[in-house]
Amino acid sequence: MINAANSLTVKNKFLIFGGGFSGDYFAKSIRKLGCIALTSSRSINNDPNSFIFNSENNSIPEDSIFKSVTHILSCIPPDKNGTDPVLKSLKNKLKNLPLKWVGYLSTTGIYGDTHGDWVSEEDQPNPFQERSQRRLNCEKEWSNSNLPIQIFRLPGIYGPGRSTLEAIKTKKIKVIHKENQVFSRIHVADIANAIIYLIQNKDNLDFHPIINIADDEPCSQIEVIRYGYHLLGLKMPKTILFEEAKKDLSPIAQSFWIENRRVSNKLLCDKLGYKLIYKNYRVGLNNCLINIK
Ligand SMILES: NC(=O)c1ccc[n+]([C@@H]2O[C@H](COP(=O)([O-])OP(=O)(O)OC[C@H]3O[C@@H](n4cnc5c(N)ncnc54)[C@H](OP(=O)(O)O)[C@@H]3O)[C@@H](O)[C@H]2O)c1
Repeated sequence: MINAANSLTVKNKFLIFGGGFSGDYFAKSIRKLGCIALTSSRSINNDPNSFIFNSENNSIPEDSIFKSVTHILSCIPPDKNGTDPVLKSLKNKLKNLPLKWVGYLSTTGIYGDTHGDWVSEEDQPNPFQERSQRRLNCEKEWSNSNLPIQIFRLPGIYGPGRSTLEAIKTKKIKVIHKENQVFSRIHVADIANAIIYLIQNKDNLDFHPIINIADDEPCSQIEVIRYGYHLLGLKMPKTILFEEAKKDLSPIAQSFWIENRRVSNKLLCDKLGYKLIYKNYRVGLNNCLINIK
């Protein structure tokens, strides 16, 4: 039995690079435990917990931001050359901080296409898309950084404010069917909670440098959309076959349908003992419904 010895105290200060959907959720979660959490943004805003960081124009945080930092989480995607924006701008700075832990949000895209088979952390990365090759390059940069790094590979992220429900409401959805095609996904609360669980139990658990965070139930997109329409009490439009639909899809949208894999969470949930809050899209979307007007 894991003892959730609280290694996170008010003395901990987190810098979260990329205060987007997951970064902001993580910051709010960690603040509830009494920690300080500052998030980066590329634009000036009124949030006192926000600081400016933009690797593209070399806007670097001032020194005071780094004072007493104990933990770093990067939620920023690779730049167009496949270089990690945080390491490119701040590697030497980070190396000189007494950091207890550094986390990096990566993607399960690095596993490539398995024709629907399961992938785990033991599988060799086999990126097919250029963006996944860039991502794998960033993972390598973090792994070789000599920082106390832990990498989290994520499938499609959803949560309140960014889910199939919003896509249905704003009509930005096509009901596409492709035989045997599945997707894995993860609720944003489970990303934050799983990472916090791992940090809190760091001294009791075997350390794994790479961990998938995915829910229990990879499934077709249509299954999720059907449930979304059911929750909203709306009638689902007619299904379009992928071969027919693809001519109207953007290249990026098409690229998501090229790969087919099921992401295993056995390491996180069976071996390391994390209990998902939202083990499948049904409980996850029920939670997202509270955000829908
Ligand atoms: N969305 C998904 O389904 C999904 C799935 C798997 C993995 N991921 C990856 O997981 C991570 C978090 O995903 P998310 O969806 O929560 O991210 P998100 O909402 O898109 O936020 C990305 C953040 O990165 C910042 N950023 C981007 N380029 C930057 C640069 N050059 N310099 C400084 N900051 C920069 C953005 O700054 P601003 O706030 O100023 O815009 C934003 O805060 C990302 O790396 C993403 O690629 C996402």
